[in-house]
Amino acid sequence: MSGHGTPIKMSAHASQGLKGEAHVPGDKSISHRSLILGALSVGETKVTGLLEGEDVLDTAKAMRAFGAEVMRDEDGTWHIHGVGVGGFAEPDQVVDCGNSGTGVRLIMGAMATSPITATFTGDASLNKRPMARVTDPLALFGARTVGRSGGRLPMTIVGAEMPVPVRYDVPVPSAQVKSAMLLAGLNAPGETVVIERDATRDHSERMLAGFGAKISTEETNEGRIITLRGQPELSPQTIIVPRDPSSAAFPVCAALITEGSDVLVPNIGLNPTRSGLFPTLREMGADLTYERQRAEGGEPVADLRARFSPNLRGIEVPPNRAASMIDEYPVLSVVACFAEGKTEMRGVKELRVKESDRIDAMARGLRASGVTVDEGADWWAVHGLGHGGVPGGAICETFLDHRIAMSFMVLGLATQAAVTLDDGSPIATSFPIFEQLMGGLGADIRRG
Ligand code: S3P
Repeated sequence: MSGHGTPIKMSAHASQGLKGEAHVPGDKSISHRSLILGALSVGETKVTGLLEGEDVLDTAKAMRAFGAEVMRDEDGTWHIHGVGVGGFAEPDQVVDCGNSGTGVRLIMGAMATSPITATFTGDASLNKRPMARVTDPLALFGARTVGRSGGRLPMTIVGAEMPVPVRYDVPVPSAQVKSAMLLAGLNAPGETVVIERDATRDHSERMLAGFGAKISTEETNEGRIITLRGQPELSPQTIIVPRDPSSAAFPVCAALITEGSDVLVPNIGLNPTRSGLFPTLREMGADLTYERQRAEGGEPVADLRARFSPNLRGIEVPPNRAASMIDEYPVLSVVACFAEGKTEMRGVKELRVKESDRIDAMARGLRASGVTVDEGADWWAVHGLGHGGVPGGAICETFLDHRIAMSFMVLGLATQAAVTLDDGSPIATSFPIFEQLMGGLGADIRRG
């Protein structure tokens, strides 16, 4: 199954002593938001360190379709000449967001309060994912939607002619829903209020403030109450995108389970709404340290050092940590295979509606590799076999999901027999240099 051209068969083989520095790409969440907020500002936003993965490139194309000028210099700096809040033009073609839930949901929000109509589509994975979580609340602003059954893409949004401000209590822990509402609120008069019970990644709030929007967050017993004053003029910014902790997770976890490893992953953003994986790994007994801790652009940053950790133990990962590491459960489940005892992950029903049903996709490949996995609607548990104890030998299905593909490639570095992937092409959505970077550390990952 591939929506990314010819399937790329890949395999990972037992490796030893991963060594060196892993310079992972820019943060995906911040990259999407840089392009979208740049497009909604008046003047030129400059972005360096943008993730040049397929997901973000699709968002760049979409911003051009809505009227912004988006260009890349030879030195890798991106320049966005924005059209201002409320200045989006109507795209003259269907907007294809590829594999990206973040791209499509944020852009839907950004256009829903402008008097224009746009039709969105994506690849086979994105066209299965639930969009009603975004389009239902966007209707409160006055936007109308026609889509396929089950609230799925392709879908047309008719933006509100006379948007009204909204107060919305987000029922699912989703930064995409929260962000879509805030972006829609930009072009509504008055105050839009978004309430979230569990803190999800707060890049939209931080970046909106950085671009000059009036936005405040109050922590209350009800949850986080975010208030945005509509119709600001956003001022263009110069953005240095920090490196993605979700991408850092792969070389870090690979080093922990591969004998003799010592890997440094420099300049990783450690925003607390994103970095729940790292304390979780330390609780499991991982030799993982933060070096040169500092603040950059208002975000905490450190270099991560991960060393082979032969005495990992299974733990219970609490539900209230889920939002801060939601994209990292697949690779955490791989580390859990090499721990002694059971790792239980609770409060994770959102994993079932990501690029794939990530609990199902991981459980299939791990079971085929000789690991016992239990699962329920919103939890799963992996029974670790300790270092050296995981048979491997599976042929794993990727289900068009980059993080599933990379997680199985990490698994195969420490199993007894190689792990094969039906299609590694989705890796290019978020981590186009994955094979090169892992190979540079000494990981035996092959094509074919
Ligand atoms: C993202 C939010 C999360 C995450 C995704 C990126 C974002 O999705 O899984 O990879 O940039 O806002 P949800 O909002 O669906 O939890």
